[in-house]
Amino acid sequence: MKLFIDTANVEEIRKASEWGILSGVTTNPSLIAKEGRDLLDVIQEITSIVNGPISAEVISLEANEMVAEGEKYAALSDNIVIKVPMTIEGLKAVHAFSKKGIKTNVTLIFSANQALMAARAGATYVSPFVGRLDDISFDGLTLIRDIREIFDIHGISTEIIAASIRHPMHVLESAKAGSDIATIPYKVLEQMTKHPLTDIGIEKFLADWNKSQA
Ligand code: E4P
Repeated sequence: MKLFIDTANVEEIRKASEWGILSGVTTNPSLIAKEGRDLLDVIQEITSIVNGPISAEVISLEANEMVAEGEKYAALSDNIVIKVPMTIEGLKAVHAFSKKGIKTNVTLIFSANQALMAARAGATYVSPFVGRLDDISFDGLTLIRDIREIFDIHGISTEIIAASIRHPMHVLESAKAGSDIATIPYKVLEQMTKHPLTDIGIEKFLADWNKSQA
């Protein structure tokens, strides 16, 4: 499973990209708004840090407007992916983008049928939201398993991005469920690097080494 970072904060992206683990970036309007910066400026800056796919989400809700907006983002760089909400207008826009050879990520996926329709419209990626389903007492990981099963049975190549990741267990379980990608907040990426026995082990190695040098 590939690891993307889910943020519009360029410092977080810069730091995580130095670890060598990042395959891509996803943003959304809430994440961009949190930065208080112009959307195009942020996306442009991210393209100077990451070579992999970078999702930029459209604000428009009508298909033609989504296409016009997405084309502006796509013109920034070859690795821009246009993130489109899972609506009928969104499906029409995804279909139009796929005919133009522009990659798409269909977001706000909460059912396997939505994922199937997005894939059939030509989506490059679908983003099922694990955490937001868990928040309302539905099992977000069952959704990942269902989409994986359906895509495998029917030979669908659209990639699954496990999104709305809240903690390291979501990442672990998404990987076991066969998600192609998880898009992960910086804090969770950091948590994933840690284990108390690693810290204790380093401390002991150094203590033993220093004793032998005394
Ligand atoms: C997906 O691409 C979204 O940006 C994101 O994962 C949403 O997560 P949230 O539910 O924590 O807002």
